[in-house]
Amino acid sequence: MEVFEAILKRRSVRKFTDKKVTDEQIDKLLNAAMAAPSACNKRPWHFYVVKNEEVLSQLKKASRFSNKNSSLIIVACGDTKRALPMQLNDYWIQDVSAAVENILLTATGLGLGTCWCGLHPMVRTVKKVRAILGAPEHHIPMALIHVGYPDEFPEARTQFEEKRVKIID
Ligand SMILES: Cc1cc2nc3c(=O)[nH]c(=O)nc-3n(C[C@H](O)[C@H](O)[C@H](O)COP(=O)(O)O)c2cc1C
Repeated sequence: MEVFEAILKRRSVRKFTDKKVTDEQIDKLLNAAMAAPSACNKRPWHFYVVKNEEVLSQLKKASRFSNKNSSLIIVACGDTKRALPMQLNDYWIQDVSAAVENILLTATGLGLGTCWCGLHPMVRTVKKVRAILGAPEHHIPMALIHVGYPDEFPEARTQFEEKRVKIID
């Protein structure tokens, strides 16, 4: 699939079938994630891949916006021990976001659906998710990504608006 086609086809999917995502597909998603650009190539990320039903169920209850019927969740975290120091620290958010988008687009290319559910900066949700995952303090859960075979098919689209662009030539 062309990259631009995958970009338009990627839509948030909130209903999934029972068909399982394979380990090979998961491996591809993680490779895509870690191919993302990051400031000074720090790669300040950590990914929790959750297949366990009990943990999945706890994660789905962690925020009222994150309850979907997927059988796979990837939680993308920032790793503050690997992040840039001082005022450059917040770059981890851009770095992890780039990795998350790579996961979503690769999943689209594989015929999978995804839904990015935001965690950071919801402080209480971040704490809950960290506890559920057994993650250390320096891992900041940023995005909870549902992955699975789609059971709904939102239309491919852009949301292009000319008025949001200023061309300076
Ligand atoms: C940072 C971020 C947080 C989001 N959080 C949620 C969420 O908690 N629950 C949810 O169902 N969708 C969530 N979404 C998905 C957006 O609602 C969705 O991307 C937006 O409505 C545009 O639709 P599309 O993804 O189909 O293009 C989130 C997306 C982003 C980028």
